[in-house]
Amino acid sequence: MRTLLKNIGCIQTPVGSHPHRGKEQGENVKYFNAAIAMEDGVITEITSDGKLPEGDFDIEYNAGGKLVTPGLVDGHTHLVFGGYRQHELAMKLAGADYLDILKAGGGIIDTVRKTREADKSELYIKSAGFLDEMIGMGVTTCEAKSGYGLTTECEIKMLKVIRDLNARHYMDVVATFMGPHAVPPEYEGRGDEYIDMVCSEMLPAVKEDKLAEFCDVFCEDSVFNAEQSRRYLECARNMGFGLKVHADEIEAIGGSELAGELGAVSAEHLIAITEAGMDALAEGGTIAMCLPATSFYLGKTFAPARRMIEKEIPVAIASDFNPGSCPSLNLQFAMNLGCIKYRMTPEEVLTAVTINPACGIGKGETVGTIEPGKQGDLVIWNAPDFEMVCYRFGSNMVNRVIKCGELVDRRRRVK
Ligand code: NIG
Ligand code: FE
Repeated sequence: MRTLLKNIGCIQTPVGSHPHRGKEQGENVKYFNAAIAMEDGVITEITSDGKLPEGDFDIEYNAGGKLVTPGLVDGHTHLVFGGYRQHELAMKLAGADYLDILKAGGGIIDTVRKTREADKSELYIKSAGFLDEMIGMGVTTCEAKSGYGLTTECEIKMLKVIRDLNARHYMDVVATFMGPHAVPPEYEGRGDEYIDMVCSEMLPAVKEDKLAEFCDVFCEDSVFNAEQSRRYLECARNMGFGLKVHADEIEAIGGSELAGELGAVSAEHLIAITEAGMDALAEGGTIAMCLPATSFYLGKTFAPARRMIEKEIPVAIASDFNPGSCPSLNLQFAMNLGCIKYRMTPEEVLTAVTINPACGIGKGETVGTIEPGKQGDLVIWNAPDFEMVCYRFGSNMVNRVIKCGELVDRRRRVK
């Protein structure tokens, strides 16, 4: 099947399959008056200056002179969860802070209760709805974490939902196991024993059924300390999982240092990261997965993304969609915040939502740029240039989305 996307006003894309750091973070190429040829869902040729690819095509799409970028990659989500937590809004407005709510048995633990109660099909239908919304906003690949089960059975249930979503939905979904997301009520005050159980029971079960590529942990004051996080991450690494760390979200307790030292693929949040933490990420080649919409929603400061770019750390921007600290799946809003709060240029932001997160979830070879050999995942924007996308906020700036060479239907997104 040969597909052509023609009449593209401008293609803007990073180039290559590796994490982009430093100056390269801000380097995009542009093709004007361009066209993209695809065969069986893979890009075969890019032309510019009014030239068209040779040959016949089974399907031709017309971009109407608009901007085209690679499909966006949301590298950090907590996509699957039972219930919502809108009641926490009143608590927040009354002054309760995020960790206080968690310590009082609410927060993540509240979602754990609701996720344990939900059956697989209920979770599947709800999460597929989120994916529909995300793809309509330009995201064609995402990561999804478990971590609202906190029993082997319920963590496996969540990961199977993620597996089924990846198989049936247009969206490519990469699974991360996050058993140590919180200490479950049954293990209250016994975090070490919980980590023992995660290592001896959960990780082998996840491995056995090949249900996740990555493992993550919430390394945070009063959740899992650096020593517990290290024990778990070393165990996961020995079993062949890629590593991710929720690090320095609220307090810097050594999470970034650990991520860098263990060669984690990414460290995520990093609101409170120190200079030493940044040095460790640079040293370890670890991608900084920054989540500005979470800073916004928690009313916190913003991760020092500019400093990280200066220090040659590859920066990615993701939504962190979850029912507590960021109940928004709008990656475009996070991109706006990337410019306004992180002071990143539109070019740096495009890299941060395409090739860098793609590398952060093991997909750098297949998605994240518009180049021959990459998957035909494209966004046609209601904009002449990417600057317009970063400048407008609060609207969905997507015109249409192409996934593996195929136009995504506006209403029905399952394959
Ligand atoms: O990335 N920090 C830990 N996990 C999520 C929040 C989860 C929740 O509140 O439900 C986060 O912010
Ligand atoms: Fe998170």
